[in-house]
Order: sequence, then C-alpha cells, then structure tokens
Amino acid sequence: MPENVIVTSALPYANGPIHFGHVVGAYLPADIYVRFRRMRGDHVHFVCGTDEHGVAITLKAEQAGKDYQAYVDHWHKEIRRTLEELVGIRFDAFSGTSHARNPHHRELAQRFFLDLLHNGYLFEKTEEQFFSPSLGRFLPDRYVEGTCYLCGFDEARGDECPRCGKYLDARRLANPLCTIDGQPPVLKATKHWYLDLPKLKQEWVQGWFEGKAADWKANVKAFVANDLEELRERPETRDLPWGVPVPLPGTDGKVLYVWFDAPIGYLSISKQYFAERGEPERFERLWKDPSTRLIHFVGKDNITFHCLIFPAMLYGTKAGWIVPANVPANEFFQLEGRKFNTSTGWFIPEESVRGRFSTDALRYALCTMMPETADADWSWKEFQARVNADLNDNLGNFVARSLRFAERFLESELPPLGQPAPRDREILAAAGAAAADMAAAFLRFEFRRACQRLMAFSSECNRYYDEMQPWVLRKQDPARCRQVLRVCAELVHSLAILAAPILPDTAQKVLGAFLPAHDDAGRPSLPPGPLRVQPLPTLFTKVEDKVVEEELARLRAVAKGGTAAAPAAPPARKPDEKPATAGAPQAAAPAGAIAYESFAAVELRAGTVRAARRHPDADKLLVLEVGLGSETRTIVAGIAASYTPEALQGHRVVVVANLAPRKLRGIESQGMLLAADDAEGKPRLLTPGPGTPDGAKVK
Ligand code: MF3
Ligand code: ZN
Repeated sequence: MPENVIVTSALPYANGPIHFGHVVGAYLPADIYVRFRRMRGDHVHFVCGTDEHGVAITLKAEQAGKDYQAYVDHWHKEIRRTLEELVGIRFDAFSGTSHARNPHHRELAQRFFLDLLHNGYLFEKTEEQFFSPSLGRFLPDRYVEGTCYLCGFDEARGDECPRCGKYLDARRLANPLCTIDGQPPVLKATKHWYLDLPKLKQEWVQGWFEGKAADWKANVKAFVANDLEELRERPETRDLPWGVPVPLPGTDGKVLYVWFDAPIGYLSISKQYFAERGEPERFERLWKDPSTRLIHFVGKDNITFHCLIFPAMLYGTKAGWIVPANVPANEFFQLEGRKFNTSTGWFIPEESVRGRFSTDALRYALCTMMPETADADWSWKEFQARVNADLNDNLGNFVARSLRFAERFLESELPPLGQPAPRDREILAAAGAAAADMAAAFLRFEFRRACQRLMAFSSECNRYYDEMQPWVLRKQDPARCRQVLRVCAELVHSLAILAAPILPDTAQKVLGAFLPAHDDAGRPSLPPGPLRVQPLPTLFTKVEDKVVEEELARLRAVAKGGTAAAPAAPPARKPDEKPATAGAPQAAAPAGAIAYESFAAVELRAGTVRAARRHPDADKLLVLEVGLGSETRTIVAGIAASYTPEALQGHRVVVVANLAPRKLRGIESQGMLLAADDAEGKPRLLTPGPGTPDGAKVK
C-alpha cells in the first residue's frame, strides 16, 4: 500500500549562505529519502522554506543596514538557488515564514498560539529579561552572548548554545554582553507567555516519546531522553520589532518567539502550496490524517525543538494535527576537522565547486561522509577518493565499458535475455539482493550504508565482466558474448535504478541509454526482449590532485588569518573586540614619497550623495549612498561630527573607488570619501568642480 508521507527539511535562517554542513544534515538526506520513497510508489509531499523571523534575522539585518524584509528576501533567493543548483534538492513546496512571502503563516501561527492558550498550555508571566539602557531596547536571544553554563563554550547565545546544542536561559550565562554594543545588559521586567512544558510532558509528551523511541535513531533517542529530564516552561514570546504579532490586545511590540512560529512554517508553507494549486482542502486532509507519516530531517542543534517542543505544540492545540513519526537527525559536520564558519571563510565557497564537480559527485561524496550516528567531517582527500575510486573507477567504469562494448562490437543490438546461464542468474540475483538491502537502509535512514551497498554491488558487476571476458568471447563465442552483454545491460539498468535517489542525474543519463525501449524510470528491470543501446555521455570525471591541493591551500590561508581567494565577508565583530576605527577619510599618511604608479593605481571619481543616514551602531559614522554615474555605492564615513544626513543630500564628493570593501561596525563600506580637516579638526569633504559628471575620473 502506498503511504502518504510528509518530509520536511529544517527551515534555514534567511541570514547567510547555506554550506555543506547544513546540506548534509537536513537537505540531502531528505531529498534522497523523498526520491527513494517516490520510486517505491509512496505519495510524498516535500516541504521546506526559509526561517525569516527572530533575532538571527533582525541582528544581522541591522548589522547590514538593511530592512528586514529586503534582507530575508535576498537570502531566501540565494539559499533556494544553492540547494537546487549545487546539490539538486527538489522540494515540492519552498516558501518562507515572513508575511510578505507567505500570507498563510501569520494566521496559522496565531491560531496555534490561541489554541494553546485556550487549552491552558500557555500562561502569562512577568519576569526580568535582559535590556540595554543605552539602546533602550530589550535584548532577547542572540542580542546577548556569554559563556554557556552547561558546557563552558564562550560564544553561547542567549537562547541556545551552538556547541552543546542546548536551549539556554540567557540570564544564567556567565559574562553576558550585548552583541550590538558589547556592553553588559541589565535586567528589566516584561510580560511574556510561557509554554507549560512540564504539564504537556506529564499529560502526553513523555508517554508518546517512550512509545515512539523504539524506531528512532540511537543518537536522537539519547539526546531527547536527556532533554526530557530537564523540560521546563519556556517563554514563547519576545519583545522585538519583527515577527508574528502576539494575537492579544495590549501586546504592541511583542511577537511570537521564532522557535514557536518557525516549525508552524512547515504547515503554513504546505497550506500555501495547496492553496496556490487551487486545492486548499488537501492541506488539512493531509496534515490531519493519522496515517500520514510526518518525517522531519534536521541537524543536531534542532533536535529538542522537533522531538519535544513542536510535537507538544501540535498535540496541545487539540486541533487534530498529526505529530512526527520520526526525526532522523544528524550529528555535526565539520570541514577538515574544524567547524564550518562562513564569516571567517572556513567553508567551501560555491566558487570552489560550481561548474567543477557535478551535483551527483557532491551528493555522493556528502552522502558517504554523512554524520549519521556520530560527528563527521568533509575532507578534500576523502572527496577525491570517493569520486575517483567509487564513482569513476567502479560504477562509472562498469557502465561505460558495458555500453561501449555493445556499441563498438555488437552494433548496439542485444538479444533477449532468454535462458541466462547459472553465473548470469547469480549476478542477476545479486542485483535483487542489493535492491532489498538498499531499500532497508534508506527506510532506516542509513544513507552511508546505502552508498556502500551500491558500490559493493557495482564491484560485483565489474567482477562478472572481468570473469566473462567479453573481449575474448567476441571472437571465440559471439552468441555467448551477446548474451553476457545483455546481462551487463540488465546490471547497468539496475545500478541506475538503485543509484537514482543518490545520483539522480547519472541515473537519468544511464536510463537514457536504453531509450526508446525504456519508458519508465521506476521499472525494476528492462523489458526482456531485444535491446538497442545508445551512446552515453561521460558520467564522471576524476578529481585531480591539483584541485585538492588548491582547496587545502585556501583553507590553510584562512586558518592563518589570511583571506586568500576566500570570497567570505570579514569576521563579524565579537562583543569584546574594539569597534573598527571610525572615520574612513582619515587615511594614514605614507612615510615617504611614493612612485607615480602607486598614485595612479588609486581610482578617484566624482560622485553625488543620493541618500544619507546615521549608522545604527556608531555615533561618529554616517552611511551614504553615493552615485558614481553607472553605479551607486554604500560608503560608511566618519563625518557625523561635521554633517547631518539631511545636509549631505545632493552633496558632491570625491570617492576612492577601488578600495577593497571593508566592514565598519557591521556595515560594509564600498569606498572612501576624500576630506580635509577644518580649523576645529572636523573633517570637511572635498568637492569636484562644477560641471564634473558623476563617475568622472579625478587625476
Ligand atoms: N532556522 C533554524 C536553524 O537554522 C531551523 C528551524 S527549523 C523549523 O537552526 F522547525 F523551525 F522550521
Ligand atoms: Zn553549551
């Protein structure tokens, strides 16, 4: 019986690029699982989107000087493109949680809140929270960082610790500092709504988890069992200017906590998907049918929310929503032994892989390295070994030599399978065994094992070919030669079908070799009659040593603090670091004379200030949009003592246009303005002469 399955991948925060650490945790395994389930005939609904609320967003948007919606829109597009293009993830529904992107989300999240309140699982409480007197705002979650009171990690965030993955109470952090201005916060009373998790645990969660846990992955079970012990009430609202508004009167400035609204995103995105297809009734039918299997793919840091809190919320609404059947969470994934970090450059930039390796090569290698039961690591040498030894020399080799032989020596015509010899029957049976083992592995979320099994079968195929020696048979026993190649075609076909969830493009190419005789990608075997094979494009190319060397060298440079070829942004300022020196115009005077060439290398251009505003986090800085004719630059300048933003509107300026961009207190400055100090020591901007168009070169 085909099953209805909803598969979700954790909604990535729309606040930065997605890297392989994310991909291998929640997206690739989900995509493989979905493809496998579909081939089996199940009805799968694959949902994802971006998580667009919460401090992870507001903080970074504020640092970038962007409005929240524009900021999440940018990352939404980027993330979607990376997942689809780089690793071939194909969601059914991909949207997000901001109101502009998904008009169903706010209403549904508010409905959850009101249902839980009505059912007595949310209660109101006034408590002290961190507050910044200088900024005049509350500092929820990541607005405060400090030392984790559970594991000692010194960059723990107000709501969770990136190292031990535990949810934290910000007030218990050691040495808490505000991430905006690096100041210690104070406590101030504020009213919030708390989820009564102890009550939900007693009433339902504990029993449910204990009943479920039998089929869950051991790493997940252990983590959850531990968390269940410490389940306390948690505030589900925040004082923030961005999010789903609390749906109660007199709550201005309060929104739902991002971890309250984000998982509801799975439902609201699905709701939007069905609504847009003109089948709105299918949403509740699917999400309220107890036979639907709901499976959440997540990384380790999301376990508690998906295994305890969100199920508790779904149950607590008493609205008939299904709860997850399984949460096959992965452990942490590192890069060459260190944590991925997009801000320091310790990650694999898209430029390093795009157009260089196929999506299938990346998918396969990532799948073999997946942190399924323990932490794991991307290593370039391992990547090279997997692509070269497994894909190229093993699977690719068998497929290519079988089809090439048929093409070259047998005019691409193969006889019906007829009566296979005993050795043929043995290898054909091995295909069946591999299929059964791989299916079991996929269903148990053992993706690494599925890869190994695929390669073991491919090795058996190569062994068969070597034993049969078709190149000898061709002359000695042409009829047997044709029969052997017919068996090989059968094996090639099986390999393609078995590999399809992991290597979808390769599978499609290989199945294309049997067209037009072949019309159904999910078919377990070829039609038994005579076959024609078509030429096949190259399946895999080897990863050369040079490439591995280059990538390792790039990482070594990053480790040394250099930025060699790393397209990464400069590291974000830590709370205890001094702010970057304000005042872009105060260029250091060179000690000696410089060569003319050095001066000529500086590109100076005339420009006009189109817009100006104060830097949100630095009194001395202004953020300007400067028109240079063909383009507009954002320039951060230390001239707030001399000019108001209003006075600068339309002001003509001279811009150093080829300076490497640099972040000034969180905002990237794409150039520098020329200025000279006046008698009081206040910088005054240089102005190009009248009639000089924007963009004109200053010589
Ligand atoms: N945005 C979260 C993260 O990146 C994951 C959210 S998953 C969902 O850790 F359940 F909230 F959707
Ligand atoms: Zn910790």
